[in-house]
Amino acid sequence: MITTLNCLKIPFFFFLFISVSCKQEKAGSVIDDVAISNESETAQWLAYGRTHSEQRFNPLDEINENNVNELKVDWYLDLPKDVGLVSTPLVVDGILYFTGTMNIIRAVDAVTGERIWEFDPEVREHIKGKKQTGWSHSRGISFYKGKIFTATWDGRLIAIDAKTGKEIWTAVTFDPHRALYITGAPKAFKNKVIIGNGGTEDGPTRGFVTAYDVETGKVAWKFYIVPGNPADGFENKAMEMAAKTWTGEWWKHGGGGNAWHGFTYDPELDVLYIGTGNGAPWNRKVRSPEGGDNLFLCSIVALDPDNGEYLWHYQTTPGETWDYNSSMDIVLADLNMDGEEMKVILHAPKNGFFYVINRETGKLISAEPFVETTWATHIDMQTGKPVETKNARYENGPVDITPNPWGAHTWHAMSYNPQTGLVYIPALHQSVKFSDEGINLESWQGRDFAAGTAAHMLEADQQPRDYPASLIAWDPIKQKEAWSVPQDVFWNAGTLTTAGNLVFQGRSDGKFLAYNAETGEVLWTFDAGLGISAAPTTYKINGVQYVSLLVGFGGGYARGGYESHKLGWAYGAHTRRLITFSLDGKKDLPPQPPRFFPRPIKDPEFILDEDLAIQGYNEYWKCFNCHGDGMFGGSMAPDLRASPIPLDFNSFAAVVRDGLKNNMGMPSYPEMSDEQLEALRHFIRKRARETYPVYEGLIAEQESQN
Ligand code: HEC
Repeated sequence: MITTLNCLKIPFFFFLFISVSCKQEKAGSVIDDVAISNESETAQWLAYGRTHSEQRFNPLDEINENNVNELKVDWYLDLPKDVGLVSTPLVVDGILYFTGTMNIIRAVDAVTGERIWEFDPEVREHIKGKKQTGWSHSRGISFYKGKIFTATWDGRLIAIDAKTGKEIWTAVTFDPHRALYITGAPKAFKNKVIIGNGGTEDGPTRGFVTAYDVETGKVAWKFYIVPGNPADGFENKAMEMAAKTWTGEWWKHGGGGNAWHGFTYDPELDVLYIGTGNGAPWNRKVRSPEGGDNLFLCSIVALDPDNGEYLWHYQTTPGETWDYNSSMDIVLADLNMDGEEMKVILHAPKNGFFYVINRETGKLISAEPFVETTWATHIDMQTGKPVETKNARYENGPVDITPNPWGAHTWHAMSYNPQTGLVYIPALHQSVKFSDEGINLESWQGRDFAAGTAAHMLEADQQPRDYPASLIAWDPIKQKEAWSVPQDVFWNAGTLTTAGNLVFQGRSDGKFLAYNAETGEVLWTFDAGLGISAAPTTYKINGVQYVSLLVGFGGGYARGGYESHKLGWAYGAHTRRLITFSLDGKKDLPPQPPRFFPRPIKDPEFILDEDLAIQGYNEYWKCFNCHGDGMFGGSMAPDLRASPIPLDFNSFAAVVRDGLKNNMGMPSYPEMSDEQLEALRHFIRKRARETYPVYEGLIAEQESQN
C-alpha cells in the first residue's frame, strides 16, 4: 500500500516557507521470504497456510475462548456469479485478496470490504473446445514482492501487480489441449513460484512440477515425479534411481504422481518439499505389473529450491493402488521429543496414517493411524514402510478398504497450534469395495479425457463408523488422538487455530464453528446458510481482530451424488459470499433460501429407448465430475434431470457439442456424434424417471423438518 504523508511546512526565516517531504510516499512492506517466515506477524496473512510453515496458527488472542460467543458479522461481500469457493484469503497491508471461481481475483479493503480491483483471466475463453477435465474452483493464490500469482484451470500461471490488479506476465505450464488441469495454489518462495497440476485419472500422464522466476515468468527448473521411458534417457540421477522401482512398460500409462496441492518451502533449511500424487492408473497391476514401490508416487520429495535437484524422499504409500496420494499439507514444526528439539514435517495423507518426519534427514520419526486403516496394520519402523493386510491389493477378489479414495484427510487444511501442541485434522471415515474383476489388466490402456483407474469402486459392506467425518485433535508427539468431534456430514472444511485457544472450522452443512482448542468443546456456531469448503483467515487491523471466510460449497465432492445432493446446495440456488467477523460486528446477513432440491422432469411424451439409455450411461462418465454421481446434481453444475435443455435435441447439442455455455464453465465436446448425444438424452430421461421417488422423499423429509 502507498500512503501519502501530509506536506510538512517548515518556517524559513519568518516570511518564507519551504515545503519538504510533500507527497512523500511510504512504500508498503516488502513481502519476501523473511516476511512470510515471521510467525509473530498478526496484522497480515501472507501465504496459503499463513506463513512458510503452513501451520495456520495465528498468535492473535483478542478473540478467545471467553468471548468468541460474541463473534458477529462485520462485513460481507455477495459473489453472485461464483460457484465453488475453496480458497483461503490473503491479507497484505490492509488489503484482502482472494480467488473466486474461474480464477477471478479480487482485492478488497480488509476493514470495510470495499472493492479495490478485480482481475479476470478469462478462463471461459481458454477452456473453449479444450478442457473436458478439471474444475472451475481454485484453492488459492500466492503473494510475493508486490505480485500475486494464480494458476488457472487451463494451465496458465499468471503474475498480477498487487497494486493495480494488472497482469505482469503469463506462463503456459502445459499444452492446454492435454488432459491436465490446475485447481491448486501456486507457491512463491526465494524469487520463484512453483506449480504442478492434476489429471492422474484422466488419461496417461507423467507428473511434474515447474518453478518459474517471479520477475520474468521464465522457467527456472522442472522436476518430473516419475521416470519416463528409459530408452529416452533419464533427466537426472533421481529418475534413474526411481526407474528401478518400476516394472513393465509403465511409461505407456504415464505413471502419474501429479502434484496437485501440497508445496512447502522451509526457509530455515532452505529446502522445498512437494507432496506427490497417486499412480496412473490407480491399479498397480496395470501400471507396474511385476510390483515395485513406484517412486516417487505418494511421497514427500525434498528438492533444492534453486535448481530443483532431488535431495531425499519419504514415500507414504509404496506401490500405491488405492488413490492414496500424499498431496496433502506439509506442515513444518519444531517439536520437543524426549528432550530433544526436532525439526519435523507433520503430514496426514489420504492413507490414514499420521507421519512425523525429521526434515533435516528425511527419516521417519513415527507414524500411527489417525483413523481406521484396513489396507495396512502399521508402519514398520525398521523399513519405514506400511505392513499391508492380506488381499489389500484386491488380488484375490473384491475387498472393503478404508480409507476410500476421498482419503482419511484430503486437501482441506489441517492446522498446528504450538501452544496446545495439537494438530487439527478435518478427517473422513469411509470405506469402499475395491475390485478389478472383469477388467482385462493386460490390455488395459488409458486414453486422454477418458477417466480411468483400472479398478472398480463398489459400495462397501460396512462403513468404519456410524458418522462419515470428524474433527480430530492429534498429538503428534504421543501419536494419539487428544479429542475428536464426530460430524454427521462429509467433506468438512479446513481449520484455523489461534492463541485464543480456538479452532475454527466450517462444515458442508453450512455451519461455521469455533472450538476450544484444548478440549474440543463447541464455543460458537454460526449458520452461513450454504455449505462451507474453505478454511478461514484471521488478521488484525487498528486493534481489531477479524476472521474471514469464503462460503460456497466446492471441491470434487460438491459435484453431487446422493449424499452430496442431499445437502440441498443445488447449483445456483444460494448466494456465494465472503464473510468477515469481528467481536463488534454489526451487520445482519440477508438470509439464504432454504435447501433446494431440483425437481426431475418426467416428460411422459418422451419414448424411452432402454438400449440407447445404456449407451448414454457409458457416455455419462464424461459428465459426472460436474453433474454428479448417479446424476444427483450438486453445487457445481445444473441437475440434468431437472433441466429443460435435454428435452430438445438441438438445444442439447448447442450446449454439449457446440459450447454454448463455455462461458459458465460447461466444457464442449466437439467430437460427439448425434447418436452419442441422443444416447445421453435417453439416459437423462431414464434417470429423471427412476429417481423421481427420491426427489419426493427429500421434499417430504424437508417438509417434516419445518
Ligand atoms: C467441468 C464441469 C462440467 C462437465 C464435465 C460437464 N458439464 Fe455440463 N455444465 C456445467 C456447468 C457449470 C453448467 C452450467 C452453465 C450455466 O450456468 O449456464 C453446465 C450446463 C450443462 C447443461 C445445461 C443445463 C441447463 O439447464 O442450463 C447441459 C445440458 C449439460 N451441462 C450437459 C452436460 C453433459 C451431457 C456433459 C458430459 C458430456 C457435461 N455437461 C459435462 C459443467 C460441466
